[in-house]
Order: sequence, then structure tokens, then C-alpha cells
Amino acid sequence: MQKLLIAYLILMFSVVQAQKKPIHLIPQPVQLQRLSGQFQVNKATKIVYSSVESRLLAELLAQKLRQPTGFVLKTTSGKSTDNGIELKLNTKPNTTLGNEGYVLEVLPKGVQIVANRTAGLHNGIQTLMQLFDPTIENKSATNLLSDSEKWNVPSVKITDYPRFGWRGVMLDVSRHFFTKTEVKKYIDEIAKLKYNVFHWHLTDDNGWRVEIKSLPKLTSVGAWRVPRTGDFGNLAPPADNEAATDGGFYTHDDIKEIVRFAQDRNVTIVPEIDIPGHSTAILAAYPELSCTKEKIKVNPGSKASEWYDNGTFKMLDDNSLNPSDEKVYEFLDKVFTEIAILFPGQYVHAGGDECYKGYWEKDAGCQEFMKKNNLHDPEQLQGYFMKRVEAILKNKGKKLIGWDEIVEGGLGSEAAVMSWRGLKGGIEAAKQGHNVVMTPAQFCYIDYMQSDRTLEPHVYSTLRLKTAYNFEPVPDGVDAKFILGGQANLWTEGVPTLAHAEYMTFPRAYAQAEVYWSAKSSKNWEGFVPRLETQFKRADAAGVNYATSCYDAIVKPTMKDGKMMVTIETEIPDLAVHYTIDDAVVSRYAPIYHQAIEIPEGPVTLRVNTYRNGQRMGRMLILKREDLKKRL
Ligand code: ACM
Repeated sequence: MQKLLIAYLILMFSVVQAQKKPIHLIPQPVQLQRLSGQFQVNKATKIVYSSVESRLLAELLAQKLRQPTGFVLKTTSGKSTDNGIELKLNTKPNTTLGNEGYVLEVLPKGVQIVANRTAGLHNGIQTLMQLFDPTIENKSATNLLSDSEKWNVPSVKITDYPRFGWRGVMLDVSRHFFTKTEVKKYIDEIAKLKYNVFHWHLTDDNGWRVEIKSLPKLTSVGAWRVPRTGDFGNLAPPADNEAATDGGFYTHDDIKEIVRFAQDRNVTIVPEIDIPGHSTAILAAYPELSCTKEKIKVNPGSKASEWYDNGTFKMLDDNSLNPSDEKVYEFLDKVFTEIAILFPGQYVHAGGDECYKGYWEKDAGCQEFMKKNNLHDPEQLQGYFMKRVEAILKNKGKKLIGWDEIVEGGLGSEAAVMSWRGLKGGIEAAKQGHNVVMTPAQFCYIDYMQSDRTLEPHVYSTLRLKTAYNFEPVPDGVDAKFILGGQANLWTEGVPTLAHAEYMTFPRAYAQAEVYWSAKSSKNWEGFVPRLETQFKRADAAGVNYATSCYDAIVKPTMKDGKMMVTIETEIPDLAVHYTIDDAVVSRYAPIYHQAIEIPEGPVTLRVNTYRNGQRMGRMLILKREDLKKRL
């Protein structure tokens, strides 16, 4: 009897503990109400769906739960039962929820997710998954949890819907190729954060990655380059007769499989064919399509351009399509015929960025063409090109989206703009009544370093997590209805592996998920941090890599009254900063930073690290006085 009583008390204690456990969701939902009690998934739990459209989601959920729990849960159509997880589509739409919103109600007797569309059910399921212990993300059955806490979900009622309809992540697979399996894993991870657009940068100077059956050389030649390792952009160019063995591409079957995989997770793929610039891989296969008709090779990461102080640049080899050549449009018609069939989404991205026009300016054919068509400068010539591309796409039932350079040449009537050189191009396009996706580099370029330049693989700029979190996609004075949403962009010049792609993507994609989904008024960095830390545990369980750079100290030197002073900040608020300037090691016993410190003249080195409750959190920064001087 006494044993029973003790067991009962332990059980009650853990129930109370479970109820007290904070709820950590990313992105933060619109409305969350905690109720009493909890639901426990056990081997008899059923997943019930109200209509055949949601059967697949029920099966995906059963599959996800099977891995960590070992339970083979039944999925059935019909109405809610006790001990069920019900996926229910509204017969009469709830206007608050829109296409992607949901209501998730967890009660001790069962779980119900209600939505207007399967997209909403998908999003509700992602929230439900985050209500479990992070070990729910484990790929195999575990015994990490005690019986009383096993697979419990706290009782809640959540009403949730997105702020923006375009919540994207871009992956560049040209600079480095990622396999079909890797791309699927990446899409699965972003779908868990309720992203709904995967912008797939499929072509660039360093590789063409999509099979076009009517133009076989695009992949037999354009997908391959000579192998190189090291600092991309400074690698040796191809030698004569050197075999191009590095690369890869996706067949039509691969693409169909990935598109379906993404669709099942409410992700639309926006394919990008980057033209008229960034076309080295095309021209390696079909050199007759440029003005110079120069025979070039797919660039393996060697120097291709010169940049000048006024922000202009020159391409050392001609990497642009010839806009005055009708054969170029015939070529593009073939490309987009197959792209339009492969990708069911409404938008196709046609690049338009960083097109060097020097070879157009030197080309007699282009000059004559401009005169004949009343085009006054090379920007207008690019405008002509983009409008032709827009017409080709329209003919195939697609809309064009392009980088903000396309604003300069004059936009086609239905073109949408992706603003990357700050917000300016997007503001201009929105004022002209065009749809805009905001992805300004200073907030959204997740190829940038995340921490001190001495601690990260070198990239030319830095985007810290807190800055990515603080992005506001709707600029003052712009009609919000033209801002479709925003996007985190991963260029992969410096990203050779999936593990590194994940390191660059997470946690900044956690931060941006919240920017694009959650209500503007709910944004709160301090509130985000504990949710972020739970998300790290989910990533650990899921086998997803991520950066912990946000724990590193931020060191800023200044000169005051002839003295070098250093201030030290942290992104994460509750960290203690310990430092030394006397060549002693930094530990939890080193001095704590409180206010700006003076760095005396001489051979002095500043060492800094961050701690929480005596536990080391960041990486040690080591900066000599002369390093600090360079940063003034
Ligand atoms: C870009 O970063 N060139 C769009």
C-alpha cells in the first residue's frame, strides 16, 4: 500500500512538473492558452483524419512518431476518438485561419488539429511535434525519458496563422552540389519551421544542376568542373585537358521526387535559372549564346571578376547571354518548357542579378539591336531581355520573379522582385505595384559569418543571429499588400558540405522563421533565446548541425583620450564575460567584464569567453593589441 502511495505521489509530482515545463515553440504562435493536464501518446493512440486529402499527413505523422517512440500508430479515417490525434479539415472555412492557419487543441483525452486546408494541418502538426520533449526528433526508439514523462504533450489551445504568405529559404546548389537526399533533408528541416518556399538556385557560373532533355550538353558539360579544394574564388583555373570530374545534377525523376517531397510538407519550390549573367556553365556547353562566343569552361571557383571601389565590377570572361540573338530566346524557350513542367509552383526565378554588360557594349550586334529597338542604355537592353523571358514564362503559365537589378531596366507588368541589395529595389518595385520578396543581404544572407572573423571560416561580411531576428520586411511608407514575405539565402561558395550548410542555416533560419510567421507585435529577442535553446536540443536529437556562434563575445575597440578601450557585448543576455589581458588563461575564475577595459600599450593580448553558471558557453576570442588596432 505504502509503495502504491509513493508511486502515486511520484506520478503526481511529475505530472505537476510536466505542467510547469515551459512551452518553447519556433515560430511563436499567434495565440497560446495553457490548459490543465496533458495528453500522452501510447501504442494505442490513433491518428484520425477527416478527409482523404489529409491521409498522407496522418501517415507522415505516424512515421515521425514511430521512429523515437517505437509505436506503430494506426491511421484511420473518420471522427475523433478517445486517445486520438485528429486531423480535421473545416467544411466551412474559418476566415481567421486562411490557407495556412490552424487551431490545435490538446486535451488529456485527445488532440485535435483543425484547419481550412491541408497546409494548415501540416503547420499544426509541426507545432504539435514541438510540444513533445526534444527527443521526439530522435531517429530511433530511445529510453531517455521516464515512463511518466514519456511522450507527453501539455494541454493547450493554440490558434495560429502566418504573417506572410512567402516564407522562404534559398539554397545555392551550383557553387557546391548537394545530393537529392541532402536536399530532401534540408527541405524537411525548414518545413518543421513552417517555411513554405524553397528557392532552389539551380544554375550559376560554377555548375548547371537540372537536366534539360532537349539540351543535353547543359548537364553533360555544364554540370561538371575540375576538382578543387580550398578558398573558393581564389582556386586555380582549369588546366588544358584537365578532366572535369566534380559536380552533379538532378534528373527529371530526381526533381519530381523532391517536388513531391516538398509538396507533402507544404513547401513550394521556386526554381532559379540565373540569366542573363552568371551563365558560365551554360556557355561552357553552348558558347555560341554569348556575344564573344569565347570557349570557356565551368568555373571551379577561380577568380572571375574584378571589383572596383565605386561598387562596379568587370567579368574577366564573358559570362552573359547575348540579348540581341534570337537563338538565345529559342534556347530559353526549351529550358523553360521543361522547367515549367517539372515545377508546379506559379513563380520561376530568372535571376537578373550582377549581369556584366561590358561585352554587350563592345558588341556591334548588340549596339545595332539597341538602336533598332530604341533602347538607350545596357540596363534597358537587360530590361528587354527580362521582358522576353517574362513572356516565355507567361506562355507556359508561369510568373517571373527576379533579383532587384531587374527594376533598373523597367519591369514587365506582372514581374515580382526579390530585393537583395538592401530594401531599396523592393520599395521601388512595390511603389510601382509589383509583388516583392524582401531578402536584403544585411539581414537575410546566411552565407555571411555569424561571429567574430577569427572564429568563423572567412566570408566578406557578417550577419549575427540577433540581426537576422530583428529584420522587419515591411519598410515604412510601403503598402504591406505588395510585400509577399521574405527569405533567408544560403549562397554556397564557402559551403562544401551539408553539415556546413546546416551550420550556416541554423540558428539564423530559426530567427527568420519567426520574422515571417509570427505577429510583429510578439517579437521579443529575450523571449526567443530560451526557445532557441530548446530548438538546439531538437536539432541535436534530429542529427542536424547548427552554429552556437551567438554565445561568442563581441569585442569592439575604440580610442578615448589617446587610450585604447574595449567594450564587450553578448547577443545572449544572461552570459558572464570573463577576460584576461595578462596572458593568463581565461576560465570562470578570470576577471568578469563590467565596463570598458583599457588595453595598455605594448605586447598585450585580450582573451575573452562567455560563461553561464560557471559553464563555458562561447568560443575563446584571442585578439592581440595590433589586431584590435586594425579594427578601430
Ligand atoms: C545576389 O546575391 N547576387 C543575388
